[in-house]
Amino acid sequence: MKTNRTFTMIKPDAVANGHIGAILDKITKSGFKIIALKYTALSAEKAGQFYEVHKERPFYKALVEFMSSGPIVAAILEKDNAIEDFRKLIGATDPSKAEEGTIRNLFAKSIEANAVHGSDSDENAEIEGNFFFSAFEKF
Ligand code: PPS
Repeated sequence: MKTNRTFTMIKPDAVANGHIGAILDKITKSGFKIIALKYTALSAEKAGQFYEVHKERPFYKALVEFMSSGPIVAAILEKDNAIEDFRKLIGATDPSKAEEGTIRNLFAKSIEANAVHGSDSDENAEIEGNFFFSAFEKF
């Protein structure tokens, strides 16, 4: 089902480097409406669950450690064609390959600490949004 929604996290590196405001500004100026928003942190257990789909990949342990290393911002966003448009806005997973002006190009330093997450499908956006937010936290 197409929902026109995506889920994002501002990751611990971008939070620690003081980029929450600039990233949210770029997101809203790019036409995304914030449906839900939370400043929180993932325990190692919760990060492991969130990224379970990647558990066989070589970077899984490092990813879980990094994602539980400090506070994050979680958000559900709405826009026509949200999944594709948001992935364009954040740029490639590896910031050295991210197009100029994208969030990862502007705010990320490495593939390990790449500033933001963006859902890769409508189905995963729904699952990931529900991981962080209950029905009465979405507007
Ligand atoms: S994606 O978004 O699924 O197409 O990207 P993918 O390359 O498959 O990566 C999945 C998530 O793992 C993170 N990642 C890494 N973390 C640590 N070290 C290395 N080398 C690495 N490579 C990829 C990547 O940022 C993705 O996290 P999310 O939160 O989905 O962006």
